[in-house]
Amino acid sequence: MTTVEKITKLKEKKNAIILAHYYVEDEIQEIADYVGDSYYLSEVATKTDADWIIFAGVSFMGESAKILNPDKRVFMPDAKADCAMAHMVTPEKIKEIRGKTKDLAVVCYINSTAEIKTYSDVCVTSANAVKIVKSLPEKNIFFVPDGNLGSYVKEQVPEKNIILNDGYCPVHKVMTKEMVLKAKEKYPNAKFAVHPECIKEVVEEADYVGSTSGIIQYAAKENEKEFIIGTETGVMYELKKQNPDKKFYTVMDHQVCDDMKLVSLDKILDVLEHEVNEVLVSDDVRERAMLPLKRMLELAK
Ligand code: 13P
Ligand code: SF4
Repeated sequence: MTTVEKITKLKEKKNAIILAHYYVEDEIQEIADYVGDSYYLSEVATKTDADWIIFAGVSFMGESAKILNPDKRVFMPDAKADCAMAHMVTPEKIKEIRGKTKDLAVVCYINSTAEIKTYSDVCVTSANAVKIVKSLPEKNIFFVPDGNLGSYVKEQVPEKNIILNDGYCPVHKVMTKEMVLKAKEKYPNAKFAVHPECIKEVVEEADYVGSTSGIIQYAAKENEKEFIIGTETGVMYELKKQNPDKKFYTVMDHQVCDDMKLVSLDKILDVLEHEVNEVLVSDDVRERAMLPLKRMLELAK
């Protein structure tokens, strides 16, 4: 039996589903039950009847799925797969800003630890950050941990006073305006679609700014045939699958999130065979971190 056949058989036996983010390897996206951006996957996690969720992604995704589903067993194929940005703000920093700012909401990007979520009023993803921040009653917003997504939201919601944190995604941050201009010169007919985790100067060059799902939908509905993609290259799998007649280029040679690439078929099989890497969140943290996540699901509707 092949690894994929073994996974399929055991998945059925355990009543398990595999959720995969667009950044994981193609072969994982191919066998996953659901593939999507962080918002879609967090929603799917709340709607499934499965007993087990295997989250092919990074730790904040598995943690969020567990927080939203305390009665289900959630597993990560690789327990070390983490998002560097998720750790780029501290509870002390949040307490400091709360202490000195009235009429404040702490908005945390879902790319954050469960602990940080417990200090936050609402979570957002790149797909709904603008909409949710706009809808909040507070005038002042401390946006954590991503300074680049925060800066994009600030541009889009000028009526709010958005306080930025200095966190960033190391994968998106290294794309520069110069690289984008070079790519545009090389592919003059291409549209440029970008993730808002990129720096402001790069986002300013974009024809479209949005989450991974947003970028995929944009490329599918535009009549143009060529696109420069400003995000992790895992999205190319779905982009090419949906648009075999279109061409997709990267901004730079290596647009890869190494943590997302830690997920492999063998590790998924290992989870199914040996119940390794279960995501555990203490009741106290889970109860408090669930509130901002639930609020996000409500406000994003
Ligand atoms: P999405 O919200 O588009 O899934 O992005 C998540 C992420 O980690 C981007 O780096
Ligand atoms: Fe985190 Fe960046 Fe990887 Fe997304 S691409 S999971 S933000 S390190």
